[in-house]
Amino acid sequence: MKTRTFGRIALAVCFLLLVVFRSEAQLYLDSSAPIEQRVEDALSRMTLAEKIAVIHAQSKFSSPGVARLGIPGLWCTDGPHGIRAEVKWDEWDQAGWTNDSCMAFPTLTCLAATWNTEMALLYGRSIGEEALYRGKNVLLGPGVNIYRTPLNGRNFEYMGEDPYLSSAMVVPYVQGVQQNGVAACVKHFALNDQEDGRHVVNVTLSDRALYEIYLPAFQAAVQEGKAWSIMGAYNRIWGQYACHNHRLLVDILRGEWGFDGAVVSDWGGVSNTDEAIHNGLDLEFGSWTDGLTEGRSNSYDYYYLAKPYLEKIQRGEVGTKELDDKVRNVLRLIFRTSMNPDRGFGSLCSEAHAQAARTIAGEGIVLLKNAPVKKQQPALLPIEGRKTILVVGENAVKQMTVGGGSSSLKAKYEVSPLDGIRERAAQCGAEVRYVRGYVGDIGGEYNGVTTGQDLRDDRTPAELTDEAVNAAKEADIVLFIGGLNKADHQDAEGADRLQYELPYGQDALISALVKANRNTAVIILSGNAYAMPWLKEVPALVQAWFNGSETGHALADVLFGDVNPSGHLPFTIMPALEDYPSHQYGSAAYPGIDNEVEYKEDLFVGYRYADLFGRKKPLRYTADGREYTINPPQRRPLFAFGHGLSYTTFELGKATLDGNTVVVRVRNTGTREGKQVVQLYAAPAKSAAVRPVKELKAFRKVSLRPGEEKELRFELTETMFRCFDAGAHEWVTDRGQYTLLIGTASDNTPIKIAYDVQ
Ligand code: BGC
Repeated sequence: MKTRTFGRIALAVCFLLLVVFRSEAQLYLDSSAPIEQRVEDALSRMTLAEKIAVIHAQSKFSSPGVARLGIPGLWCTDGPHGIRAEVKWDEWDQAGWTNDSCMAFPTLTCLAATWNTEMALLYGRSIGEEALYRGKNVLLGPGVNIYRTPLNGRNFEYMGEDPYLSSAMVVPYVQGVQQNGVAACVKHFALNDQEDGRHVVNVTLSDRALYEIYLPAFQAAVQEGKAWSIMGAYNRIWGQYACHNHRLLVDILRGEWGFDGAVVSDWGGVSNTDEAIHNGLDLEFGSWTDGLTEGRSNSYDYYYLAKPYLEKIQRGEVGTKELDDKVRNVLRLIFRTSMNPDRGFGSLCSEAHAQAARTIAGEGIVLLKNAPVKKQQPALLPIEGRKTILVVGENAVKQMTVGGGSSSLKAKYEVSPLDGIRERAAQCGAEVRYVRGYVGDIGGEYNGVTTGQDLRDDRTPAELTDEAVNAAKEADIVLFIGGLNKADHQDAEGADRLQYELPYGQDALISALVKANRNTAVIILSGNAYAMPWLKEVPALVQAWFNGSETGHALADVLFGDVNPSGHLPFTIMPALEDYPSHQYGSAAYPGIDNEVEYKEDLFVGYRYADLFGRKKPLRYTADGREYTINPPQRRPLFAFGHGLSYTTFELGKATLDGNTVVVRVRNTGTREGKQVVQLYAAPAKSAAVRPVKELKAFRKVSLRPGEEKELRFELTETMFRCFDAGAHEWVTDRGQYTLLIGTASDNTPIKIAYDVQ
């Protein structure tokens, strides 16, 4: 009897132990358990070696999980315009797969130019689905560095000059990506605003400029978008590399913003083990193990956060507190992504993605200028009733998805502008002829991905111009399609542009074409501003960005009026380089002297600077103990921030205040359906602090049929009227009288209303 009871008790204990053990064993695998408990549970089971392993790469784009515990690793991908081709384990060269083509979405400058947060959500969701299908957990994007100089080779990967616009656009992009269980990795945190010397430059700037201009989009991505990861930049700030910059990562990102995601280094952005341990970095990628220069093969064990870190722990030089924190952040990222049970399967190159790419591109293309060639005639665009169309220019045929650095793609297809125009022209029986006009960049290869195009042409510039001019004389309308491209020193990573002017003699060619045929529209593909010496001669000008797979379709949609253009500039276009604030101070402000770059224009970036036009005296003030002198611009912008035309016309009514809500009516007064971007800026009457003349605080894109009118309501909140008090290190509401300026561009704000911030 006794033995039977004993046997029963033993069995019960065994069962109990099994239950306890099983549930314990499964806690980190139990997706219904709170994530922090799962993180702690997984952490408690990991060995020191396993912890070290998960905080650095194992290949170019992956980091390991914990195989013993069934925890998968992370696969990252560029970003930010499509899912990069698979590369070999330890090389940048493509692996040569045949199933890794993607949909190429428009570049982020185009997305910003839509001024439509729904487009950002659609973009994020679509690219997230592609990432998911391709088995990626972390998308290396979006980029939100501020457009400080038009020479920055990577501006096309970012969202323009304004902190409010880029904040508004980055949040839905991040949310859209992450709805798929794929992390957005917002980059490059922070102040990676030039490519020249990007691995070494040390940026100095005032705290106000930092908080008011350069950080808001990152903060919005983290706090509103709830980004799961962020990428450190290559450059230094206050003498310390951004990837292990204590102030940026520990004080601001985690301390002030409460970031609970993982800080990922830029590829090769780590250069110091101690700083990497203590200053907030979680995951090290792409290191060049002999410092910030070159690497050796498969050197992952020698990464700054690999053996060197392990040995420091083993020697007792550091404890494991920092390591555990890093592992927690990485585990959280894994649970949110690679172990997220709710993620679906995604989709690649679907019809829906093609449609998304085309719609976003169509909304982002900016009609900068559109005038009649002769009085009493309609404006040159859209193309209507033309029998012969001449297309001139290399960018009409050149594939742009290959090249430009890490954002280079292996697109499943890319409809060129010429093909898009041909396809559409055929529908109205127009004949399209193409001539090259100039030879620019004939390259078509990046990391082994090739366009397959042979763009060689040995004719002299004079021969090419002659051919184009003669053909122009015969055509009903000429479409010049040029701009920049993705070659080095154009719109490309790793180096800045060498000149503000369009390259390859395009300016002279454009002038010659307009002389030969006044019905010439200029269409520029670029991610940057450029000089326009021919602007007065040209009746129509279209800023068409780099629009990915659907480039040609989206462009034809706009040129032929199937889509009414509604893009607005996300940056200011000044007449010349010297008109930009960052180019007022010689090399000290750009590209730097002895690798030191000081942001001497301070808060006065883009329209904040252009708005000082007409001011007699320089603005002089001290910030953070430094003297600032802002000399007012000598010229107005060619095209202001926020500018963009339509084929219809709109009228804004008077603004009224309903409590703290501005109410304004907008009406389509033309004959076509169209979208308008109504922008609200706030201008303080006077302020103790130095303030820009006005700043964007809200915008809304609204679609209207001919004759239709809608009421827009902009709710005013106290945070709109704050500025950063560097002395007290806090945001303060700048109370007093403001004028709210409402309009359709930063230089066109005819509706004014007074508002008192109490
Ligand atoms: C770029 C990053 C990119 C990474 C991985 C770096 O050179 O700066 O933007 O995500 O490479 O390709």
